[in-house]
Amino acid sequence: MEYYLVTGGAGFIGSNIVERLVKDGFKVRVVDNLSTGKFENIRKLIHKIDFICGDISDFKLAQKAVEGIDYVIHQAAIPSVPLSVDDPIGTNHSMVSATVSLFQAAVESKTVKRIVQAASSAAYGDNPVLPKREEMDPEPMSPYAVAKLTQEYYGRAFYHVHGLEVLSLRYFNVFGPKQDPNSFYSAVIPKFISIMQKGKQPTIYGDGLTSRDFVYIDNVVSANLKALKCPWPGKPETINIGTGESITLNQLVDSLNNIFGTEIKPKYEAQRVGDVKHSVADISKAQKILGYKVETNVYDGLTKLVDWFKEKDNE
Ligand SMILES: NC(=O)c1ccc[n+]([C@@H]2O[C@H](COP(=O)([O-])OP(=O)(O)OC[C@H]3O[C@@H](n4cnc5c(N)ncnc54)[C@H](O)[C@@H]3O)[C@@H](O)[C@H]2O)c1
Repeated sequence: MEYYLVTGGAGFIGSNIVERLVKDGFKVRVVDNLSTGKFENIRKLIHKIDFICGDISDFKLAQKAVEGIDYVIHQAAIPSVPLSVDDPIGTNHSMVSATVSLFQAAVESKTVKRIVQAASSAAYGDNPVLPKREEMDPEPMSPYAVAKLTQEYYGRAFYHVHGLEVLSLRYFNVFGPKQDPNSFYSAVIPKFISIMQKGKQPTIYGDGLTSRDFVYIDNVVSANLKALKCPWPGKPETINIGTGESITLNQLVDSLNNIFGTEIKPKYEAQRVGDVKHSVADISKAQKILGYKVETNVYDGLTKLVDWFKEKDNE
């Protein structure tokens, strides 16, 4: 039976991928150092998976993690622009060193057939050209964006040097169940839902006209599984994963008001350092190479997520 390794599998995106793989009947191993992830995210699956708790920048641990593995889904990272501004050394360690260690272990394993890794739309920076196409020159504006881009370049280098198949999926703004709403560094959607469901005002940094391509988690999980099995495109491609549409933060608050049946007005504060103003994906490459399509649109995704928050509160 095919054996899958999910790095960062106790995190938001990783644990959703693990859940799908287990549901589809695959054999799954998770490696996670629980730095930003939570054991809680995989607690219900723990008797159905192997779990290695540790940091993949430790090469011996990475070797153990890839032993007997066919496919690797590499999600491990410290996924936050502001956190990378506060701690660029930690960001580089947990993303760049960890990726090199994983790739080298995969090459030496001789069993790994392909690695699909999480890249980020942060690589496009503040280039005003929209939509973002993969051929555009990267303009990383934060240590996080540099680290994610470096992961992509290591993918190219390991293919060039060792023939290791690596595809990099440049996620736009992913949202869905298990995303942590409670830290300063949290993504905007879970934070807004958690605040607005208590009837409180969300804080928008900037004027609210900042726009993002918010993509519901189910689309991202499917993209990863398609990328593992699609015919090899001939080189280690970088592929956008979004919806191809963007909404502003003001529109996001409007949609949530609509779903909650409220009329809450946001508070506005100064724009944060390193944040980009607008972002929307061109998803034609994903459609062509992966056969990717948007299964759940933003509004439906928000509705599902609000329901998930309500269920969680009732548990
Ligand atoms: N959430 C988004 O909108 C988004 C957008 C673009 C890219 N990404 C990328 O997607 C991936 C998953 O992001 P997420 O939102 O699920 O974040 P997350 O913080 O929930 O998950 C990352 C996981 O990696 C683990 N981890 C970190 N460094 C590790 C290491 N060195 N060894 C082992 N485990 C380690 C953490 O404990 C955590 O469980 C990341 O690579 C991130 O950069 C996310």
